[in-house]
Amino acid sequence: MPLSDVSIQAIRDARALMPIPRAALLFGLRTVQRECGQVGSEEVEVLAELFELPPAQVEGVARFYDLITREPTAPHRFRLCEGVVCAVRGMEAVWDVIRDPAGSPVINEAIITIERGACLGHCDHAPAGLFDGVLVGPLDPPDALRLLTAATAGGISP
Ligand code: FES
Repeated sequence: MPLSDVSIQAIRDARALMPIPRAALLFGLRTVQRECGQVGSEEVEVLAELFELPPAQVEGVARFYDLITREPTAPHRFRLCEGVVCAVRGMEAVWDVIRDPAGSPVINEAIITIERGACLGHCDHAPAGLFDGVLVGPLDPPDALRLLTAATAGGISP
């Protein structure tokens, strides 16, 4: 998916503000992820050109951060923390509800990418999640189900 002129300009502006231009690469990766839903080979090439870096270096940074994906994601993205604190505080019960088709028949994965991941640094609100880049929690199963069904129904814009 081609990157918009607005995003390209935002990345150029961020690059120009940094004493070391490549310090803005993470901003560039996040911008691409948000707009394109992934950082695929085509997007890596675009960023490499913008930052005057070898594509392998851009890809190396992209692979280091697990919130940057090489696979396409849906317009909404929800990540449930599976870190130790969240595990102790009941994240599996939340996961069971949002992943059980019988328990969550209205969650459409074409609209929401649902995944598990490492500690989000929001342990004091465990079990915690990240919804479209916003930390949420503490979540209980009904909260999580309400959030994701509202997004599926279009009640929350990406
Ligand atoms: S363990 Fe879940 S946010 Fe830290």
